[in-house]
Amino acid sequence: MRRPLALAAALAVWAANPAVGYQPQVNFQLNCMGCHLADGSGEPGRVPSLRRSLLLLSSLPAGRDYIIRVPGVAQSSLSNQETAALLNWMARNLSDLEPPPGFVDYSAAEVERSRARPLARIAETRARLLKEGAPSPGPGSRASGRDRAGKKVRLRH
Ligand code: HEC
Repeated sequence: MRRPLALAAALAVWAANPAVGYQPQVNFQLNCMGCHLADGSGEPGRVPSLRRSLLLLSSLPAGRDYIIRVPGVAQSSLSNQETAALLNWMARNLSDLEPPPGFVDYSAAEVERSRARPLARIAETRARLLKEGAPSPGPGSRASGRDRAGKKVRLRH
């Protein structure tokens, strides 16, 4: 009986104060998980895994713009603030990589700027960004990262 009561209490708080909104994890479950799965691994051939691409693309300005403009992100019913919080939560919780030392959190203003412009040629843009990041993974390359075991990982398909 405890769990349903706790859930009911939480829902009552949200209902009484909609400005509180949902936590990023709940927003992910409600808006994204159907396609991206609970761990962000997606479905091969249909939905890309976010477990590497999210952090690696986030280190490139064009990659951040792409991430905010994909239909699943740009067209969700979440506010700019909720979207920024969601992406920041995903970067820390659904990734095989550690956020790099200079990782810059997404902000509501950044989401607002990018999401208003529809993304044309999505698959082409994604392929170009992934290719651009791939050939130059030297030390300090912006398109590389380290996994949780400290092993260097490059941006690739
Ligand atoms: C209907 C299925 C679907 C839903 C729902 C969805 N996505 Fe996606 N997402 C995709 C597909 C497919 C792509 C690949 C680009 C494209 O074709 O749109 C993608 C790409 C992405 C990317 C870029 C990463 C990459 O590797 O290309 C991010 C980040 C992302 N989605 C986040 C989200 C978030 C956050 C939500 C929820 C607010 C969400 N998506 C909801 C299907 C979905």
